[in-house]
Amino acid sequence: MAFTVAIDGPAAAGKGTISKAVAAHFGFAHLDTGLLYRAVGARVLAGADPVQAALALDASELDGDALRTAAIAQAASHAAAIPDVRAALVDFQRAFAARKGGAVLDGRDIGTVICPDADVKLFITASAEVRAQRRFDELTGKGAATDYATVLADVKARDERDSSRATAPLVAADNAVLIDTSDLSIDAAVAQAIKVVQAAR
Ligand code: CDP
Repeated sequence: MAFTVAIDGPAAAGKGTISKAVAAHFGFAHLDTGLLYRAVGARVLAGADPVQAALALDASELDGDALRTAAIAQAASHAAAIPDVRAALVDFQRAFAARKGGAVLDGRDIGTVICPDADVKLFITASAEVRAQRRFDELTGKGAATDYATVLADVKARDERDSSRATAPLVAADNAVLIDTSDLSIDAAVAQAIKVVQAAR
């Protein structure tokens, strides 16, 4: 039976960690939809047209590690504001959500646009400062040369662009359960998310 968990929220709020943990706990498949937009962003940086890049995307070839750079994140966010880019990625995401055995999708518009009838909707958030610190730790942990102020400015710029775009803006669905991870450990945030999903099964 299909069972869809939609997890949305701003950059570096903890969606990825929570989504992976929820999927592992319940044995569901997981799709990080940000990687689709990052893959498009990477191709745009290499000179491709964004809409053509989205239409030609082969979702089986998404390399999460290579795509998680600050430059690709910004390019992804620019490409993600183009309605035809978003439209090109809808069918793949909906097919993933409908797979038997359950699916967790995380992104910006899963509960509002991609899966408005999802069985569970979570909106994961945290203060911009906490999110920037987490992203800074993640990037420097991978050896990237950056500083906290730059990462904070990037996070804020992306939030602003993602929230203000006309098509599928970043916004919590009316019936989403909000989890603010600013003062929560990873374990505590994951436990809250699992509890909400368990209650809906
Ligand atoms: O990991 P992080 O939260 O920083 O970003 P991401 O989830 O990998 O998404 C990168 C960018 O893709 C976002 O800033 C959005 O502009 C875009 N995106 C989107 O528009 N819709 C989605 N469902 C997922 C990502």
